[in-house]
Amino acid sequence: MDIEKVGVIGCGLMGHGIAQVAAAAGYSVVVFETDAGALEHGMDRIGASLEKLAEKAVKKGKQTEAAAAESVQRTKERISGTHELSDLADCDLVIEAIVEDLNAKNLLFVDLDGICESKTIFASNTSSFPIELMAEASRRPDRFVGLHFFNPVQLMPLAEVVRTDAASDEVIQASTAFVTRCGKTPVACGDTPGFVVNRLLVPLMVQALLMVDRGDATPADVDTAMQLGCGHPMGPITLADYVGLDTTLSILEGWCERYPDEPAFVIPGSLRTHVAAGRFGRKSGQGYYAWDGDRRVD
Ligand code: 3HC
Repeated sequence: MDIEKVGVIGCGLMGHGIAQVAAAAGYSVVVFETDAGALEHGMDRIGASLEKLAEKAVKKGKQTEAAAAESVQRTKERISGTHELSDLADCDLVIEAIVEDLNAKNLLFVDLDGICESKTIFASNTSSFPIELMAEASRRPDRFVGLHFFNPVQLMPLAEVVRTDAASDEVIQASTAFVTRCGKTPVACGDTPGFVVNRLLVPLMVQALLMVDRGDATPADVDTAMQLGCGHPMGPITLADYVGLDTTLSILEGWCERYPDEPAFVIPGSLRTHVAAGRFGRKSGQGYYAWDGDRRVD
């Protein structure tokens, strides 16, 4: 099946990026947000990111200034915002990128099943929940897939395509073709906790934070060690701040509850303390580090 119109639910950190890369790839995109302020903020972020990428393309000689400006304009025109779920009825693919709350996601998919045409593929960008649970709630498990993008979506070239036992070959093929056209390299993965990346990345962050909690090394030294010793673009503690300490904690809480016998899933004390105090990392301006927008300040 051909995907032409894409719905994105949520215009936050991940949703705005997914909407942007889909529109830049030529898809017609409708973004749903309940909150008017959040929708406006997300659209502004899309505009700023498109301008930044256009500026870079011109600097590198990949596009003329006029061509870059035209492509920014065309991409923006392909995205519309809405507060009505019914505007997603005729989408070929709907990608959910709301808060990591399984109950909220399940209720959303029940609503979407009542609204969208039977052809519509449903996808979740969840970081941590089993795709199978949402697929069952949606009442169309054969047309349900996990599409996990990485932050920042505009720059990270990977998408995990997560398959449950119930998903049809046609849906997996169409979803894989979609992420590929969005400029992402797809990797296929079963419906296993954390898929590939978070299953490896989150325990790395946990061990880094436990080292800090024990006083073995400072956050800056842990991060420098992993950048210079392993070639990682960001150290694990900077990355935890970057993706959000609240997000990291909520992933871990879900895993600890669902998989109590898995020794890799533990919650560092300092992570709980930061989140309880509202220090979520980059998004709140303070976490293990201080942040000014997207930049660490130290
Ligand atoms: N759109 C457009 N441009 C952007 C942008 C965006 N969203 N975000 C950053 N940029 C630009 C910057 O403005 C900068 O432009 P400049 O060269 O003109 O100054 C350029 O991209 C490079 O950014 P930086 O100078 O800030 O830094 P880096 O060269 O280090 O690149 C990075 C940034 C790509 C984020 C790199 O640090 C990196 O790869 N970090 C690791 C990110 C990572 O691991 N992400 C996965 C997280 S896990 C996840 O998402 C899963 C989830 O489920 C938890």
